Amino acid sequence: MHAPSLHTLLDALEHDAALRKADALRERLDALDRIELLQLGGAPGPGASALRIAALREDFEAMNAASFAHAREAIRRGAVPALLQQCLDEPCHADGDGYDWRDELVEGVLQLRPPSAAASPLPADMVAYQPTPARHIFDLLAQARLGAHDVLVDLGAGLGHVPLLAAICSRAASVGIEREPSYVACAQAGAAALRLSRARFLCMDARAADFAEGTLFYLYTPFRGAVLDTVLGALRREAERRALRIAAHGPCVGALATQPWLAADTPPRADRVTLFRPRG
Ligand SMILES: C[S@@+](CC[C@H](N)C(=O)[O-])C[C@H]1O[C@@H](n2cnc3c(N)ncnc32)[C@H](O)[C@@H]1O
Repeated sequence: MHAPSLHTLLDALEHDAALRKADALRERLDALDRIELLQLGGAPGPGASALRIAALREDFEAMNAASFAHAREAIRRGAVPALLQQCLDEPCHADGDGYDWRDELVEGVLQLRPPSAAASPLPADMVAYQPTPARHIFDLLAQARLGAHDVLVDLGAGLGHVPLLAAICSRAASVGIEREPSYVACAQAGAAALRLSRARFLCMDARAADFAEGTLFYLYTPFRGAVLDTVLGALRREAERRALRIAAHGPCVGALATQPWLAADTPPRADRVTLFRPRG
């Protein structure tokens, strides 16, 4: 099937009433992506198309902003917004590295303000900030089924997406451990703006953290080598005393899969969140 011309696509989008429904956020984000793709592909369009695109973009962005504001209000009341609940309920393509519309959704809902200054240089074996793609966070939360007794600890929490979404989408408490002060400040501001008192952020090296309260530890490959060995050693000692789980994503899944004291719930894969439990 041929892709429509920019003109045909704009005609269709301008007349599609379904795109103007409050909950059609995904469809609007998709529509904006389709326009962008056609523009990138050099689709020929008369000069007037630029004005039509600007008007559509402005329209859709205003509707999206209203959807985000609605979701943020729900979170402040302690509810799970329907837009996020849908992501938890719908099985998604939870493998691979890419980002998708769910990241735009999470960005619009959390409204984090990343620091403008560069982070301080990282010591050896520590990995620079990159957020877990949102679809993998929803997959983590769906697999983990956190309850009110759970405490999710994100080791190397970056700007805090995982602990924030865990506190929004479950009854669990969450803790983000992050060495970069400006990331911690950003995550704390995000939690305060949404009144998420169950999400806390600590500025410290994960090697010095107290693991006593966590029931699920999450690692999106925050470190490797000797740093990872130290943290896994501490988790192992903790697991000898009580039940806990570890979830991992990215290359560190391989390192966890070789730990003789851990068993994976599903075949370990670097491109999918894998849950591990200590062997009994
Ligand atoms: C790949 S990012 C993961 C971010 C976040 N967990 C997420 O999934 O969106 C790794 C993060 O770990 C942090 N980090 C690296 N080494 C650390 C350490 N020893 N202690 C605490 N944080 C660390 C980095 O600053 C970075 O923000």
